[in-house]
Amino acid sequence: MKVTVTLIKADIGGWVGHSTVHPKQLELAKKKLQEAKENGLLIDYYVFHVGDDVQLLMTHTKGESNPEIHKLAWDTFVEITEKVSKPLKLYGAGQDLLAEAFSGNVRGMGPGVAEMEIEERKSEPIIVFAADKTAPSAWNFPLYKMFADPFNTAGLVIDPSMHDGFKFEVMDTLENKVVILNAPEELYDLLALIGSYERYVIRRVWRKRDDLIAAVASVTRLSLIAGKYVGKDDPVLIVRAQHGLPAVGEVLEAFSFPHLVEGFMRGSHYGPLMPVSLKDAQCTRFDGPPRVVALGFQLHNGVLEGPRDLFDDPAFDYTRRLAQEITDYVRRHGPFEPHRLPSAEMEYTTLPGVLEKLKDRFVPAEKIEAKIKETETHE
Ligand code: F6R
Ligand code: MG
Ligand code: MG
Repeated sequence: MKVTVTLIKADIGGWVGHSTVHPKQLELAKKKLQEAKENGLLIDYYVFHVGDDVQLLMTHTKGESNPEIHKLAWDTFVEITEKVSKPLKLYGAGQDLLAEAFSGNVRGMGPGVAEMEIEERKSEPIIVFAADKTAPSAWNFPLYKMFADPFNTAGLVIDPSMHDGFKFEVMDTLENKVVILNAPEELYDLLALIGSYERYVIRRVWRKRDDLIAAVASVTRLSLIAGKYVGKDDPVLIVRAQHGLPAVGEVLEAFSFPHLVEGFMRGSHYGPLMPVSLKDAQCTRFDGPPRVVALGFQLHNGVLEGPRDLFDDPAFDYTRRLAQEITDYVRRHGPFEPHRLPSAEMEYTTLPGVLEKLKDRFVPAEKIEAKIKETETHE
């Protein structure tokens, strides 16, 4: 049976500030998706949140980029904005709904999307990841670890069905182009691209042996769509696991190191990506640190058996503690790089204004002595 797993998310207003969502937003989302399930549009759904993003996980048989499914998500976000976010004056009500009206597909309209149409295997474990206060490049490191690094994924070496490796689709987010690279043969080329967070982002991964789709990430750059800052495009990711793919534990192992990601306060800082349970999926200190949740499901004929809140486990306590130490360390840099992002990647900046104000006071370096003398004579 072919099933499509679609995850669509948006920030449509925060409670309080950008920290988390309001329970009434989730209630209304559940009501809308329950209706769609009863009408037969959806097989199943799960509504959750990470930080200030509402997440709509849906299963159906309509395929990817289906207008009915995308419209359901869009209408749900609009209704929540009108009926909950605006009346409660939640912060940034409707902030990710960038288009005036729905036009067939939510891609490019603000919300983030990850979806995959799959033939359900005999048993189909999937893990859905959602992160807040970061950007799609946050998945580059863990996807590389899962599907290309034998020090993370033992199966790459010892499971004959994975031994051929995986194919990575890398997107150039500035030029809107993609390239497919093979691992392990082209590892160094792959790393040359995906180590550059500001531009290259992994969008999909397939098993090389049979082109089985293994992972799909959301890739949107709200800042490029809107032409101005509207918030970092907190990303989502769907990963299939086991039986010739990385095991659940190998997939999760990729998050055991809290690597530095772009985002955090004002979308303008580096901070560690901290794996958390659903109950800790709110952003606090310095609007962060950036967080990720992992929800496991056993799919059966499209039914989402779950979730298992996979980071709700003492095995990740050490990673969380390390993430807090790293947060403390980077935070002490205050407004200095490399805690603060380089100018071109910052979502907020006063630099052009400061430069404009100082433009007449900048003099060629060799003329500064004369300028100082001139100032002294005037005094
Ligand atoms: C980051 C984020 C927040 C805000 C910050 C300031 O993605 O959403 O860190 O940038 O809270 O928000 P404003 O400027 O709306 O007060
Ligand atoms: Mg927000
Ligand atoms: Mg957010």
